[in-house]
Amino acid sequence: LKVIECDTYESLSKNAAMMIVQQIAEKPDSVLGLSTGGTPVGMYKELIKLYRSNQVNFEKVRTFNLDEYVGLDRYHPQSYHQYMYQHLFKHVNLPENQRFIPLGDMDLIESEVNDYEEKILKNGGIDLQILGIGENGHIGFNEPFTPFNQSVHTVKLAESTRRANAKYFSSIEEVPRIAITMGIDTIMRSQKIVLLISGNRKKEAFQKLMSSHISEEFPASILRLHRDVTVIVDQDALFESS
Ligand code: F6R
Repeated sequence: LKVIECDTYESLSKNAAMMIVQQIAEKPDSVLGLSTGGTPVGMYKELIKLYRSNQVNFEKVRTFNLDEYVGLDRYHPQSYHQYMYQHLFKHVNLPENQRFIPLGDMDLIESEVNDYEEKILKNGGIDLQILGIGENGHIGFNEPFTPFNQSVHTVKLAESTRRANAKYFSSIEEVPRIAITMGIDTIMRSQKIVLLISGNRKKEAFQKLMSSHISEEFPASILRLHRDVTVIVDQDALFESS
């Protein structure tokens, strides 16, 4: 794992945005894997700024999001469809038919599991995947003990994950119990991976990532077997060595 330590969240966000810009400069029709949550908000802001100053062009880019809640309307403000629209898509020139997010509609879910994986493959696989990490080491919605060999699948969310996400809903009851996510196998097939770790709530996760053995108990540990992972971590998430 290559680790970039940043003093601030702002600097983490800029570094991450620059990695995307560089990727698109090298390959204008790159396939990007995108994530949601609190951590990449700053990265998307930076990307929008870079787009406005003509430093990046999304015209040929294709994007695949990691995950989506199941049973939440795609127009619900907390759906990842809405998140992506508000934080990136409505601001940049990425054509609508080149943006992919798993469909979380209850009645489509069985076919979506296969369709989404197939779409990723048909587009040539992911060139650069952006990831965040859960306090329990989850990546995407791959909770502890998810088999490493899974592709796109549905999951029952861990209670800790539902609690962590409850702040975005009016009550914990409203947080969906099921999600659809790229599997660990889908993620590991990306050419490059950038993992963002920010804030003191992620200190332990960062430390475990750096030190623990590779085990399904801590899903992110698998990243140590990937040949091109960059971890961008801010000061608040760095474990104090003293
Ligand atoms: C989001 C995702 C999740 C988050 C993780 C961290 O698409 O797949 O794995 O990256 O839960 O979330 P934040 O950044 O909100 O702490």
